[in-house]
Amino acid sequence: MDLNLRGRRALITGGSKGIGMAIAEELVAEGVHVAMCARHPAELAAAAEKLRGSGCTVYAQVADVTDAAQITDLVARSVETLGGLDILVNNAGAAHPGNFESLTDEDWRADLDVKLFSQIRCTRAALEHLRRSRSARVININSVYARYPDPTFFATTVNRAACLNFSKALARELGPEGILVNSVNIGFVATPQWQRIKARRAPDTSDDEFFASLASDEVPLGRFGAVEEVSGLVAFLSSDRASYITGTSIDVAGGMGRYV
Ligand SMILES: NC(=O)c1ccc[n+]([C@@H]2O[C@H](COP(=O)([O-])OP(=O)(O)OC[C@H]3O[C@@H](n4cnc5c(N)ncnc54)[C@H](OP(=O)(O)O)[C@@H]3O)[C@@H](O)[C@H]2O)c1
Repeated sequence: MDLNLRGRRALITGGSKGIGMAIAEELVAEGVHVAMCARHPAELAAAAEKLRGSGCTVYAQVADVTDAAQITDLVARSVETLGGLDILVNNAGAAHPGNFESLTDEDWRADLDVKLFSQIRCTRAALEHLRRSRSARVININSVYARYPDPTFFATTVNRAACLNFSKALARELGPEGILVNSVNIGFVATPQWQRIKARRAPDTSDDEFFASLASDEVPLGRFGAVEEVSGLVAFLSSDRASYITGTSIDVAGGMGRYV
């Protein structure tokens, strides 16, 4: 399938590793000019370096998506460098494990800030530029926990539900302008984020054992996903082949999530 994405311009938050980096790699491979951000400069620079040499512009800027001023600046400089914006991928985020009793107000606020407010602020800053695109897309990376309550990730599950509603309401508001908004809901995908969770929860267990036991409880396909199993869908949703798809959410989760 020819996605015909060559020459489009994308901004990916959290592009230095994990799912965001795979999305950046996938889009660059399709000929998309890419801007991305993350907080840690060395990792971001290494990721950008890996993508260069493709003929596409790759712009990397250190920015924290919980900081409104940094987001405004990131979007402005990205648009200036790429010459416009067609695709915004709101990917940056972090898991915040903890049950109801363990979470403080500060934990809740921090989680809401990195998940929901990052999407709100990036989208707000990008909107005037997306309006100038003939194939504008907002793709929000979300979690199956948005619809599948899990008290062990209490803040995540509640705040991701808000993100899901944000995507749907935004798709309704922006649909008449031809700006398509979709959500990609992740189950368990092997990334540095999960390495950090594993190091906290089960430092003495092997990776294989830890991931296999989580997957066998929750995932009908019986395994963690790979980042490339997410990035292909994001490329498709970015393309004109997805021109009648908006306001939807698609799980990339191996069947995880006990809901219809
Ligand atoms: N992997 C999964 O199984 C899974 C499941 C459900 C949902 N998700 C969601 O998918 C997205 C990507 O997750 P991942 O597993 O790829 O995570 P990851 O491996 O930890 O990568 C996260 C990326 O986001 C960046 N980032 C994190 N906080 C940021 C901030 N405040 N400002 C700017 N950049 C920030 C990180 O770079 P810096 O640390 O340098 O900032 C990194 O580039 C997240 O929103 C996550 O919640 C993942």
